[in-house]
Amino acid sequence: MEICKRPDDMVRITTKELADAFIEEQISEIRAQVGDKKVLLALSGGVDSSVVAALLIKAIGKQLICVHVNHGLMRKGESEQVIEVFKNGLDANLIYIDATDRFLDLLKDVAEPERKRKIIGGEFIEVFNEEAKKLEGVDFLAQGTIYPDILESDGVKAHHNVGGLPEDMKLELVEPVKLLYKDEVRVVGKALGLPENMVDRQPFPGPGLGVRCLGAITRDRLHALREADAILREEFEICGLSKTVWQYFIAVPDMKSVGVKNDKRYEGWPAIIRAVNTTDAMTATIEEIPYAVLHKITNRITNEVEGINRVLLDLTPKPIGTIEWE
Ligand code: XMP
Repeated sequence: MEICKRPDDMVRITTKELADAFIEEQISEIRAQVGDKKVLLALSGGVDSSVVAALLIKAIGKQLICVHVNHGLMRKGESEQVIEVFKNGLDANLIYIDATDRFLDLLKDVAEPERKRKIIGGEFIEVFNEEAKKLEGVDFLAQGTIYPDILESDGVKAHHNVGGLPEDMKLELVEPVKLLYKDEVRVVGKALGLPENMVDRQPFPGPGLGVRCLGAITRDRLHALREADAILREEFEICGLSKTVWQYFIAVPDMKSVGVKNDKRYEGWPAIIRAVNTTDAMTATIEEIPYAVLHKITNRITNEVEGINRVLLDLTPKPIGTIEWE
């Protein structure tokens, strides 16, 4: 990530006109930077990398090679959606790699959050190195770095974005949205004509469910987290909260408590609901989810998800809590 400062007089992109102007400017900058060379992009499926992909596809078409690495820490159905939208919808040059076992084997017994991030980031670099070596004429690496990543890069989180530039690859960075806040990235995405459900997709950390499956990741707890998270998303869709709440997800800590299921003692993990609102992710407030919705979600998760026996609600704003649990 290149450290740079957003100019004080840079206008916040809030309208299609401002976004269009930004897109035109970036298209010429990207073309000037890249020429006829190839660009590699880690397409996670999150808003930032998706918008960068769409911007680059518009600027340089098939010179962009998107690599989607399924690290086994994606939300339910998310890798499938990346393939559907980009490969089938936008005719992108997309390479799909299922590296689930590699990542989960490396993460076995690793509980410390920053080490987990480093392992995931490091393995991404490995996977990219392997892919890049198979390709010819790739000189650039595109990244979905956004401005809060730069602002928070000194100490708050060691590896805010997964990946990075492997030393021996000697790739030059292309970071077209690095001065934008998240809300601006969405406006640009819409102006680029990306489908609403992609542009309004919630931010998703590079290390994915790895930061929400707290402590040492096990396959069974990761599976429980993914299923509980899918139920939360389904229920937010049904009641309409998915349209208004900025980010919502489940975190599952590495602890069990006693419960009762079918008249028997049932030890399980708690599923923690986090639902926050913010404009730039620097601060966040708590969404007041109606109790009827909470009861329904609790009922579904505790009944449908193997291994979960309680549902908790996180009421902590940022600060003092960060948005993610990890
Ligand atoms: P925190 O937890 O620092 O998160 O309050 C702020 C926002 O950043 C997202 N986040 C990430 N985004 N790569 C990303 O692209 C990451 O590694 C990462 N970690 C956290 C988080 O989901 C929230 O929206």
